[in-house]
Amino acid sequence: MTSKVKTSRYLRGQALVVIESLLLLLVVGIFLTTRYLQMMIPDVILIVCIFAITVVGTCSVTFWSMRNHISKGWRFALRHYKLCLSVRRALLDAAYYVPRQFFGTAVAQLPKIKLTFTDNYQRGMLLVENRVKYAQRLDTAQLSSALRRYVVERSYLSDDENYYCFELFDSRLERRLEFRSLDELLSYNAQVGDLELFIDKFTVIPLHHTLIVGQTGSGKTYGVYSFLLQMLIKPVQYQLYLADPKGSSLSILGDMIAPDCTAEDVDDIVALLREFNDVMDKRKADLKAKLATKLEASYSDFGFNPYVFIFDEYASFQSVVQAMDKKHRDEVNKLISQIVLQGRQLGFFLFIVMQKSDSTSLPTMIRDNLPLKIVLGNAEQQTYVTAFGTGVEIPSRDFRKGEGVYTFPGIANTPKLCAFSYLNFDINAAFRAKRGLCNNPRSSKGA
Ligand SMILES: Nc1ncnc2c1ncn2[C@@H]1O[C@H](COP(=O)(O)OP(=O)(O)OP(=O)(O)O)[C@@H](O)[C@H]1O
Ligand SMILES: [Mg+2]
Repeated sequence: MTSKVKTSRYLRGQALVVIESLLLLLVVGIFLTTRYLQMMIPDVILIVCIFAITVVGTCSVTFWSMRNHISKGWRFALRHYKLCLSVRRALLDAAYYVPRQFFGTAVAQLPKIKLTFTDNYQRGMLLVENRVKYAQRLDTAQLSSALRRYVVERSYLSDDENYYCFELFDSRLERRLEFRSLDELLSYNAQVGDLELFIDKFTVIPLHHTLIVGQTGSGKTYGVYSFLLQMLIKPVQYQLYLADPKGSSLSILGDMIAPDCTAEDVDDIVALLREFNDVMDKRKADLKAKLATKLEASYSDFGFNPYVFIFDEYASFQSVVQAMDKKHRDEVNKLISQIVLQGRQLGFFLFIVMQKSDSTSLPTMIRDNLPLKIVLGNAEQQTYVTAFGTGVEIPSRDFRKGEGVYTFPGIANTPKLCAFSYLNFDINAAFRAKRGLCNNPRSSKGA
């Protein structure tokens, strides 16, 4: 039989229980002795015992209440207690402690734990003290079974490296939004800024260059529909350019909403990229004049509209470009790089959608300059590495369609969960209602 090492808190608790029990026995003993044996025991002994029981009991309850933040309510305190107890047990089982002596007995000193809940207990933050003395690194796997209904969304070391931070969320919680009509989407969108896009209940991201990666059928294009609909219903007019080299659903939608800015043929796509860059150059000149008055400003500060170039199946476009002569290849690379490098301040954004973001189809320089990176579905480890870099932990989940992880500087520096909305209405009809929003027709198509 293995004897498990105990914590000093556990021993203190046991000692208190023993003291309380002994005092209670004493009180009962005094009562029975005076009643049945007719022996006179001074009242003061009884009073002292009852007083001691009350003091010990009150102190125990007060310490418990303070430790579990009763000021935030009973519900919070109970949940806090249960979860902390469970985590402490897991840390003990994982031998994540420092051995100490407590009145001559070997005890385990567990790391300090801080736990907070937000969003009506839907989310939480668990901080576990980090010390050099803890021989091993604390990883998510050691804790996951202890967190009851909560799962770790992301884990990282605090800036001062004193705590492991675990962002928790209730696994029963549906983070995905479902819209039954365009109007529902419209009213939800009203809570989000004009230059922001939402992904799910907890994820709102500023408009920026974006990479969406995932295996076939993981929900990339469907995610783009959700972004496109948001852009179309914003009070600010988004100028949309759509490239779909496979000529599938996105180009059909493009023909509905922005026929003059939609291309599927590689030459047309390159022409569209050229045009996007030309408009960007013009914006650059316009903005330069204004920037003289306000150096750190960007397009939106001067009332300019955002331009978004959405590129589905980027790898299949690149495979054709790679077969072209060097002059053409260089031109395409330059067009893409310019948008990525100069677009943010000018209000020109690139959304790249592809199955794998390896460096053959997406040069590292471009990938590194796409701040919002989303990987959908159960991707291979290599896909996560190319998107987010090495050494990042991906929350282990069985991702459904449209679910995945994302990073965005300042909002999710390490991969965080996300789930694109379920558009439970006639998507085609919704887009048809928004047709004709591109107002700079290309002569080739406009003729
Ligand atoms: N967020 C979502 N909610 C509900 N259903 C979804 C969601 N995302 C995807 N789906 C379903 O999965 C199907 C496939 O999605 P989608 O066409 O977007 O995949 P994809 O990643 O673009 O695949 P491919 O690489 O082959 O183009 C959709 O037609 C839709 O029925
Ligand atoms: Mg697709």
